Amino acid sequence: MGFTELWDSLLPIGRDERTGGYRRYSWTQPDTDCRAWFTAAAAERGLRIDCDRDGNLWAWWIPPPDDSGGSAVAARAAGPQPAVGAIVTGSHLDSVPDGGAYDGPLGIVSGFAAIDLLRDRGVEPVRPVGVAAFAEEEGARFGLACLGSRLLTGAVDPAAAAALSDSAGIRLPEAMAAAGLDPAAIGPDDDLLAGIGAFVELHIEQGSALGGLGAAVGLADGIWPHGRWRLDFNGRADHAGTTRLADRRDPMLPYAVTVLAARQAAADHGALATIGKVVAEPGGANAISSAVRAWLDARAPDEATLDRVVSEVCAQAEAAAAAYGVEVSVRRESFTARLGFDAGLRDRLASALSARGIAAPLLATGAGHDAGVLAGRLPTAMLFVRNPSGVSHAPAEYAEPADCLAGVTALATVLEDLAGP
Ligand code: GLV
Ligand code: MN
Ligand code: MN
Repeated sequence: MGFTELWDSLLPIGRDERTGGYRRYSWTQPDTDCRAWFTAAAAERGLRIDCDRDGNLWAWWIPPPDDSGGSAVAARAAGPQPAVGAIVTGSHLDSVPDGGAYDGPLGIVSGFAAIDLLRDRGVEPVRPVGVAAFAEEEGARFGLACLGSRLLTGAVDPAAAAALSDSAGIRLPEAMAAAGLDPAAIGPDDDLLAGIGAFVELHIEQGSALGGLGAAVGLADGIWPHGRWRLDFNGRADHAGTTRLADRRDPMLPYAVTVLAARQAAADHGALATIGKVVAEPGGANAISSAVRAWLDARAPDEATLDRVVSEVCAQAEAAAAAYGVEVSVRRESFTARLGFDAGLRDRLASALSARGIAAPLLATGAGHDAGVLAGRLPTAMLFVRNPSGVSHAPAEYAEPADCLAGVTALATVLEDLAGP
């Protein structure tokens, strides 16, 4: 099965017929179906399948033993962990609400397709090659982005993760147990990480720089620091038709000021700040809300700028809340520091690609990725595939089939180089 058939077999899972967007939230039925799809794709290729203690999936192409030391590699690979020096690719299968088809899945389908291509070419790696699917990368259900890779690497405390709950109040351990996992086992896995030599994530570009550069694929330079902050505005519920304006404590008003403050602070500092999720409680059209909960997503080229943007937004939220008789509290839900990918690995990828005549310009991004989290423990790199409109986290996200195939070729090229003799 080539890229196209594999891609088509994943497309229907978790797609909302009305919007055309994906709702693949961790540990729900669509996520379970995506996991079954992953397992079937791996089994069809004769790859060994593991699920780690944090619910991340791994499919392993293990080289056969040989007389030049490969047998030791294979002997370790037969155990519960991969051999030393494994080369892993992959991404995630979960989505944001009404997300596009490509963010995450493109990296996983391309990983399997790259293995197919290498086998067709008769390539025999000397190191294991893995395809990984990381859990809850978007944080769409439990609020903490890259939860699976953060748990794996120890970037989040397992007790803090176990305290996370979704919008229905279901806690992470309950959701994992319902999906057949053991939530008591979550936490870092140093042995698994010690077996991996490098991680290369292929991802759709989330912007349209490659289009302007005339390149089908690019290489990641770094990731802007970014995070999410939850703002709770607590006011007083009342009648919309009878309460005098002077008597109101309407949380919607400081919330509205905060939305505009975010936009202004981002514009003033060359950053990005977005309130994309808001919940008004109890949500009556003819009532003043008792509370408004809003999530601020902020990203900037450096941490000092990010701090400045978030401080300015919070200061304005507090001032407006005081002016309207509302209480506001702010809690940081997730944060990822500025990250530069491993320069040695990136240069090696660039020369392997250029030896095959593939030009891959360097791009910085404001989007977070599991590769960014794993970079704290391993050499990691990223390949981007051109996105003509630049739209992402939305149903219109798209890459041309020819560019997806160019991505598979580029990924196969770097896997062959890294996993070869
Ligand atoms: C992940 O896609 C993020 O940057 O929000
Ligand atoms: Mn995403
Ligand atoms: Mn992604």
